[in-house]
Amino acid sequence: MNPDVLAQNFKGKRVLITGGLGFIGSNLAIKLVDSGADVTLLDSMQPEFGGNLFNIAPVKDLVRVNFSDMRDVHTLPYLAKDKDFIFNLSGQVSHIDSMTEPLVDMEINVKAQLSLLEICREYNKEAVIVYTSTRQFYGRPKYLPVDEQHPIEPTDINGINKFSGEQYHILYNRVYGLKTTSLRLTNTFGPRQLIKHNRQGFIGWFIKKAVCGELI
Ligand SMILES: NC(=O)c1ccc[n+]([C@@H]2O[C@H](COP(=O)([O-])OP(=O)(O)OC[C@H]3O[C@@H](n4cnc5c(N)ncnc54)[C@H](O)[C@@H]3O)[C@@H](O)[C@H]2O)c1
Repeated sequence: MNPDVLAQNFKGKRVLITGGLGFIGSNLAIKLVDSGADVTLLDSMQPEFGGNLFNIAPVKDLVRVNFSDMRDVHTLPYLAKDKDFIFNLSGQVSHIDSMTEPLVDMEINVKAQLSLLEICREYNKEAVIVYTSTRQFYGRPKYLPVDEQHPIEPTDINGINKFSGEQYHILYNRVYGLKTTSLRLTNTFGPRQLIKHNRQGFIGWFIKKAVCGELI
């Protein structure tokens, strides 16, 4: 996005990024710091997830980092209550892990999401909340390109839970007027992406194989 447009929208604004030390969250943090925003990052740093201090190296002295878990309902009100924007990116991202640990996926991708919305309903109805959803819950495409009319047929636990997380955001807009929106991301890739294992999608893994000169 054009830096001037970013600055117009975010200069001086208080922004919380949940999952802010992960791949997408850290790239967003760097852009927002550049645009003059006052940025706080929340991340639980579970070892197999994408959170990594390396990701925020360029802005490490220019952001506040809160190492906490979004499932902790006691921390969230303090972090959420005074923010103009909340980019809600924290998530269990691995479709494979969601099948081996379905309840963990549900707690992070459903329960914690609902907690954040409840906290915003109570303490901060004015924040703009952007949720990162996924194209995955459409399932195997029945036609291309997949559009928003396509049937929802998740192929795994993660798809069901991400759809629930998204729908809570949409419901809280319709019923309570919270300023929520949801983006259905698809196979995002780029710098700071987790590539140390192959359970977070194929692109990062293929890139690692190519860099190491291994067979894809
Ligand atoms: N990368 C993609 O292609 C893609 C596609 C569709 C949707 N998404 C969504 O975008 C968001 C960000 O994905 P990403 O690719 O940057 O993944 P990532 O794993 O790099 O980042 C997610 C971050 O969330 C943190 N986190 C997880 N559970 C947490 C919790 N309970 N409390 C606090 N922090 C927690 C992790 O530590 C990690 O840093 C996710 O919600 C994901 O579902 C990503």
